[in-house]
Amino acid sequence: MVVYSPHKIILFGEHAVVYGYPALSATVDLFAKIYLIPSRSGLQHTPFVQKALGYLGLSNTYVKVETTVPSGSGLGTSSMIISGILLNGRDYSKENLARDSFNIEYETQGLGSPIDTTTIAAGGFVLTNGNEGMPLWSIEKNGTKWNFSSIPTKNIDLVIVYSGSKGSTKEQVAKIRKFYERGKYAKDIMERIGNITEEGVKWVMKGDLVKVGELMDENHSELKIFGISTDQIEKIVSIGREYGYGAKLTGAGGGGAVVIIPREKEKLVQRLKEMNVLYFDTSTTGAGIFKRSE
Ligand code: PMV
Repeated sequence: MVVYSPHKIILFGEHAVVYGYPALSATVDLFAKIYLIPSRSGLQHTPFVQKALGYLGLSNTYVKVETTVPSGSGLGTSSMIISGILLNGRDYSKENLARDSFNIEYETQGLGSPIDTTTIAAGGFVLTNGNEGMPLWSIEKNGTKWNFSSIPTKNIDLVIVYSGSKGSTKEQVAKIRKFYERGKYAKDIMERIGNITEEGVKWVMKGDLVKVGELMDENHSELKIFGISTDQIEKIVSIGREYGYGAKLTGAGGGGAVVIIPREKEKLVQRLKEMNVLYFDTSTTGAGIFKRSE
């Protein structure tokens, strides 16, 4: 059995979503293949892989992940591997897969929101805590509630660029939590990001990439205030703005990836090649995680 598990981007609202503000995410047409292979030797796994295997009651299993996307790129790698292991081991409804995967991720990370695990399970554009779309499910943890809905809309072309350094979701979320607990300033930023998302989802539904791009730029500027951008991310974002409708870091930051909606794709790709960076010429997809026998 092989599970095809999609990477995801957050178009608007990362970090703010941890505190229950709205966010808009989507699966992208970059799938990892995840296999469970019986193995006799005692294997060392990362904690979340260990937990996911333990959840299925599996030991002596090697988890093979085939993907061209580096881990720590803010594209949901840990969530897609957890969900990939679970779905490979048993049958699941989308909702239960999202719930179990989030619980495992939360137990190993101790923080964060269920945005990644829900997006990967549901597929397509997913709105968290907004008023648009068709309701999916709700997940609650430690007093914060996330209501998810599915946004029916056309796919959007994307160029996703890896900044060359990994970002740690755990570190970045913990850093922002300190900021958040210290006072109103961080809450105001979260509020503005929430408003950007609410406006952004409307333009995504209308297919107005100019407006979507402007709001991505605004969202990036807000995220920068938290100190989670890097020099390389800034370089990529400025090239993205030159040849795209908008550009922003996606995911936790502190490294990781930049998402660009291309306007002049050939020129953009040419510049990225000159910079010698890893990029993915891709798009959002309506598909979520699925399995197939091989
Ligand atoms: O970096 P990623 O792919 O794990 O995305 C994290 C998104 C955050 O909002 C920063 C954290 C979360 O759990 O919502």
